[in-house]
Amino acid sequence: MIQPLVIANWKMNGSYAANYNLLTYLLPEIAVNRLARIGLCPAYPYLAQVGQRLVGSPVWLGAQNASAYSEGAHTGEVNVAMLRELGCEYVLVGHSERRLMHGEDDTAVAAKFAAVEAAGISPILCVGENLAECEAGETETVITRQVMAVIDQVGIDHFFNAVIAYEPGWANGTGQIASSEHVQYVHGLIRRLLRDRDPYIARELQLIYGGSVNPTNAIALFQQPDVNGALVGGASLDARAFIAICDALEQAHRHALAQGA
Ligand code: PGA
Repeated sequence: MIQPLVIANWKMNGSYAANYNLLTYLLPEIAVNRLARIGLCPAYPYLAQVGQRLVGSPVWLGAQNASAYSEGAHTGEVNVAMLRELGCEYVLVGHSERRLMHGEDDTAVAAKFAAVEAAGISPILCVGENLAECEAGETETVITRQVMAVIDQVGIDHFFNAVIAYEPGWANGTGQIASSEHVQYVHGLIRRLLRDRDPYIARELQLIYGGSVNPTNAIALFQQPDVNGALVGGASLDARAFIAICDALEQAHRHALAQGA
């Protein structure tokens, strides 16, 4: 069975003091032997601070973005070698906020995915329709285009260590959540797209949902067969809420194991 995964995306939040306090509450609960794999993605300036606190713990460090370029005259960019040196095991690629607010198109996202994967880091490819696309009934078309753009540009073989996060732009940071049926429908679509290219990767790849996940709505989401975890933004800044989401995922996973799913 696919190992459940919870990723905290702290976005552009935090400070040395706030991170210190958050980790002090979080780590005794999450940096222990757990069924779920858990990762934390702080903003770049805090990767070293968080990474130091995670040394020797099973919690993974991740970054929210990476440059597709390897080095040189790219002011303001951070390359994958730097992220690897800081101990990052995951990098978010193509987050809806990068696509919507920072102009990243499918080609740019695929180039970043390739750079991250080539560095031996797991790319978390984020895909999702925006509000207008959702209202126009274009969800399936958009998801198919975004997933296939990366598969076609990079190759399905490079998805071996990847994760895909379904992140509808209209649900990120808005408090509006997609229904668990809608999330299952989109995750099922993504798994079918992968299966057409490689059944093994389709069966093993972690598919996680992101968009206003909280301890209350997490329970129904995690009961869906193709929802293997969550990418958590706002609620990951609240230790108690984040721990409750991790617990809900593990409970659903245990239940599925008991059912022989
Ligand atoms: P949210 O963010 O949980 O605050 O909606 C999720 C994400 O965008 O990663």
